[in-house]
Amino acid sequence: MAAPAVSKGRSTETFVDNKRKDDIRMANIAAAQSVANAVRTSLGPKGMDKMISTSSGEVIITNDGATILNKMEVLQPAAKFLVELSKSQDVVAGDGTTTVVVIAGSLLKASLGLLTAGIHPTIVSDSLHKTSIKAVEILSAMAVPVELSDRDSLVKSASTSLNSKVVSQYSTLLAPLAVDAVLSVVDPEKPDLVDLKDIKIVKKLGGTVDDTELIKGLVFDKKVSHAAGGPTRVENAKIGKSILRDAVTDLSLHYLAKAKILVIKDVERDEIEFITKTLNCLPISNIEHFRAEKLGYADLVEEVPLGDGGKIVKITGIKNMGRTTSVLVRGSNQLVLDEAERSLHDALCVVRCLVNKKFLIAGGGAPEIELSRQLGAWAKVLQGMEGYCVRAFAEALEVIPYTLAENAGLNPIAIVTELRNRHAQGEINAGINVRKGQITNILEENVVQPLLVSTSAISLATECVRMILKIDDIVTVRDKKSLVKYASGALLNRPASVVFSLSEPIAKQAQVRAICTLPDPIACPIDPGTGPKLSALLSKLRIQEILNKSSEDLHVNMLTLLRPLLDIL
Ligand SMILES: Nc1ncnc2c1ncn2[C@@H]1O[C@H](COP(=O)(O)OP(=O)(O)OP(=O)(O)O)[C@@H](O)[C@H]1O
Ligand SMILES: [Mg+2]
Repeated sequence: MAAPAVSKGRSTETFVDNKRKDDIRMANIAAAQSVANAVRTSLGPKGMDKMISTSSGEVIITNDGATILNKMEVLQPAAKFLVELSKSQDVVAGDGTTTVVVIAGSLLKASLGLLTAGIHPTIVSDSLHKTSIKAVEILSAMAVPVELSDRDSLVKSASTSLNSKVVSQYSTLLAPLAVDAVLSVVDPEKPDLVDLKDIKIVKKLGGTVDDTELIKGLVFDKKVSHAAGGPTRVENAKIGKSILRDAVTDLSLHYLAKAKILVIKDVERDEIEFITKTLNCLPISNIEHFRAEKLGYADLVEEVPLGDGGKIVKITGIKNMGRTTSVLVRGSNQLVLDEAERSLHDALCVVRCLVNKKFLIAGGGAPEIELSRQLGAWAKVLQGMEGYCVRAFAEALEVIPYTLAENAGLNPIAIVTELRNRHAQGEINAGINVRKGQITNILEENVVQPLLVSTSAISLATECVRMILKIDDIVTVRDKKSLVKYASGALLNRPASVVFSLSEPIAKQAQVRAICTLPDPIACPIDPGTGPKLSALLSKLRIQEILNKSSEDLHVNMLTLLRPLLDIL
């Protein structure tokens, strides 16, 4: 928008119409912002939850940003970036998936302001990059180191992440459980790495979340196959693992029962790795390979009734057990059970983050407001546009404390102002205590989170915003093959009506949107020789022609168009 204004003044310059580019950028920003706004209300311990009803009729209740966005079926391409952004945060840190999207939304809003003020997108984007690097430096300087032996701190950070979940009332049980689970799979030889695949979460409907337990061993969410009267409890068991599909028949079950062998069938293929690692046994695909060294050993394998009709199989006291652990999650209904699993996943990720990077940071909006303050001061020493941009981004980060306060029913303006004040006086750990509705030293309230969650949220959000800013055109590629398929249907005199319409904003670019209503075109028998020939012809003549039609030709009957083609063929 700045360019036309400038070029009008200088008659020698070529006039470049940037209107379309700006429009596309604005449309992208608006779409991405609306996605961010959708999850904003679920941020923080007092945030709301979302009920999602999917097209398949499934209902989900969740507070997890990544899950909400994943289920939203966003169509606009730029808005999809935000969905991806949340997924990336889920992969990198596991928690902070709402925060990252809220920050991105706020940075986009700030960028929009800067673009409207006439600053070039490249300058905005570069300043954003600088801001994020500085922000990570500031956050790292604020962080407090933590030792893995300091179980208390680990539990505190796991509970912070559980605080904001639907199952938050169970955080006293789930937080220590998550810490124990992660610590039990840390390999002393690789102390910085945790593979969450080594922790198996088994969901079993029934009971309450309170009945969730950590099991040092294996647990299967199924009954023992004892239709033929086989045992349901074996002490000092030798365990073999067959990986054959349909390995047991009714007859074989009968013989296995006779030999007092306990059988668990229908074990999923993707569980094999975990099972063999845990039991320290090897999978067997042929009876010839069935040797003692391939077996695993356990003190007890037994089917355990759960008191509500359900049954599970537990394998405990495993000899030479691999570094794995199992968690049996319970819940009174499927919605709670699923959300408990997702929340536990977040808590496990938080502990994993602390194993990867052993630093903690305060929560409750303290890091964001401190960032905003320090970046604001830094902006003053930067020159020109850059300083202006950095200041805007510094202010944009206040969205986190603002939203935390807003979602907790507090007065956001008063809270953020006071928070700013306290930080200006040097209280870098002052944050919003949503329970008391006031500002306190948030470290003392035990609201702590891993440094990695905050740093990755800032870096990933800026990366995403920069990507959106750099886009100035959307090119839609149409699939010509599908057009040919419809055309072939028409050729075979099947009832076909293919309507091409030039939708208004795209008309300028002579792009075509095809609305095809053809009964089952794929089913038409096409002569093998005709297909490619037709395809070549269509792509050379007709489709090109349709693409260049003006909006007067709003409706084009496919058959009329194809008549000359029929003659050629
Ligand atoms: N007791 C608390 N008091 C104040 N702030 C808190 C408290 N517990 C958590 N928070 C803050 O809430 C924010 C996290 O909220 P939430 O867990 O809803 O979102 P997220 O972690 O970004 O996303 P998700 O958990 O869905 O992946 C963090 O900024 C954290 O500091
Ligand atoms: Mg969280």
